[in-house]
Amino acid sequence: MGAINGNTRVVGVMGWPVEHTVSPAMHNAAFQTAGLNWRYLPLPVHPDRVGQGVHGLLALGFAGCNVTVPHKQAVMEHLDDITAEAQAIGAVNTILVQTDGRMIGHNTDATGFLRSLAERGFRPEGTRAVVMGAGGAARAVAYALASVGTSIKILNRTLSRAESLVVDLASLFPTLPLCSLSLTPATLHQEVPLADLLVNTTSLGMWPQVERSAWPEELPLPPSLTVFDLVYNPVETKLMRQAREAGALAMGGLEMLVYQGAAAWELWTGQKAPVEVMVTAAKAAL
Ligand code: ATR
Repeated sequence: MGAINGNTRVVGVMGWPVEHTVSPAMHNAAFQTAGLNWRYLPLPVHPDRVGQGVHGLLALGFAGCNVTVPHKQAVMEHLDDITAEAQAIGAVNTILVQTDGRMIGHNTDATGFLRSLAERGFRPEGTRAVVMGAGGAARAVAYALASVGTSIKILNRTLSRAESLVVDLASLFPTLPLCSLSLTPATLHQEVPLADLLVNTTSLGMWPQVERSAWPEELPLPPSLTVFDLVYNPVETKLMRQAREAGALAMGGLEMLVYQGAAAWELWTGQKAPVEVMVTAAKAAL
C-alpha cells in the first residue's frame, strides 16, 4: 500500500464497539487493488457523542463513513439529507460527505442484498419470499424484495414486530401481497413449501452459538428453495449446511456484507469496487 501523505482520503466505520469489524480489512484491500490513496479506519463513537461524530466527518475532511450498530438510526437527525431508500428502511449505513459539504445518509443494505442474489443468478422479481426475523436487517431485506415486486411473508418470534414491519411496507407498496406470522415450526412448515426464497435475518446460528439454526431439525427443507442466511460469522452457518444437504441453493451473509460494502465504496470513490478482493479480505479477517 502506498504511503499515507497529504493527499490521503479517509473513510471509516462509526460504531460502538467497532473492535470486531472486518470492514477496514475489506475496504483497505479494495483501495490498494484500485491504486487509490485512501484509508478506512475504525471510528469508535460513544452513543452520547453521535452528533459530534457525524459533524466531525465534515470538520476533519472525511469522504464519508459506514455506520453500524448501534448508530444506524441515531445518525439520521444529524445529516443534511437522507435518500428515499434509507428513509424507507429507517436506517443509514453509509454517509457520503459531498464536495459542497452536505452530508447525505444512504442505506446500501438493500442494494447489497439484491446484488448478492443477482450474482448467484436468482431473480427475485415476482417470486415469493419468507423472511425470518423483523429487526433492522429484515427491514432492509424486505424493502429490497418489495421494491422488485416479491411477495413477502414476515415470520418473527415477536409477532407484533412482524406486524409493524408489514404495516410500514404496505404503506410503501400497497398492492404487494404481504403478511406477518409468528416464527414457529408450524408456520414454517405451512409457508416455506410455497416459497422460492427463504431469508434468515435473525441472529440464530451466529458465532459462538454456531449449532443453532432458525430452521427446525425435524422439518424437511424443500430442495427447490434458495436459502439466504444473513449471518456471516461463521461463513457457513448451520442453516446453510441444512440447505446444502437438502439440495437447496445456500447463500451466506458474507456475500451481503461484501456487496453492501462495495456499494458504499462506489459511492465514496465513484469507481467500480473490486469485489473479489473484498471477499478474500473479509474472509481472511474473519
Ligand atoms: P438486526 O438489526 O440484526 O436485525 P435486531 O433488530 O436486534 O437485529 O433483530 C434481531 C432479530 O432476530 C429479531 O427478529 C429477533 O426476534 P424478536 O423480534 O422476537 O426479538 C430475532 N431473534 C433473536 N434471537 C432470536 C431467537 N433466539 N429466536 C428467534 N428469533 C430471534
